[in-house]
Amino acid sequence: MILAANWKAYIEDLTKAKKLYATGKRLSRRANLSIILAPPTAFLGVLAASNRSAVAFSAQDVSETTGGAHTGETTAQAVAAVGATYTIVGHSERRAAGDTNAIVANKTAHALAHNVLPILCIGESTRDEDARYLSIVREQLSTVLEPLSQKERSRLIFAYEPVWAIGKTAGDAIRSADLSEMLLYIRKVLSDYLPGKNASRAVILYGGSVEPGNARDLARDTDVNGFLVGHAATDSATFVALADALS
Ligand code: PGA
Repeated sequence: MILAANWKAYIEDLTKAKKLYATGKRLSRRANLSIILAPPTAFLGVLAASNRSAVAFSAQDVSETTGGAHTGETTAQAVAAVGATYTIVGHSERRAAGDTNAIVANKTAHALAHNVLPILCIGESTRDEDARYLSIVREQLSTVLEPLSQKERSRLIFAYEPVWAIGKTAGDAIRSADLSEMLLYIRKVLSDYLPGKNASRAVILYGGSVEPGNARDLARDTDVNGFLVGHAATDSATFVALADALS
């Protein structure tokens, strides 16, 4: 099981960042649990550069540009240079700030070019009765996957994060049956882009109000490969409780 912690901008204090990292290191020694930490960029360099533990680091986003006159941007190459293994791309909070599917595709390609593995976030804003949300998710996947080679496609991790479920509480998160249905749909779309068994082997995380109270059920009742957790992973005790629910 993968437990990926998206600290967003919740963590603004280096002492707290170090404490969460220490907790992550402890949890990463547990069998069957892989810990990925996605700190804000300022802390990513501080923590990832000297990391010798089983914790893997992720950026929360990367630039769609390479180096040059781009004030404020963090390039995939820079992220790779400080030792991050992954980067989130297409998080709904970045999409809300202007990232289109085409921009997310560029970011994904840049990440792969520098050997940073993309955690591609997909997910609809709302659910409608005509199931238009399915075509939204298909489009998010296809725009990114289409230009990539088979080999590149197989390096992505996917994170299904319905926007309507983000930043709430366990009671508002997706139900197991709906998540199972969505995982099936995502794998079906992936089978158009990945050969043979690769679609069924693709790593798909769920994110959106995962808390200790619902993580165990979602893990047990679906074939999800792990979770991308926001607020509940920004407190050490809750982070441990989440890991307890999964291991
Ligand atoms: P949440 O955020 O766990 O706070 O809902 C998840 C995410 O946006 O990655």
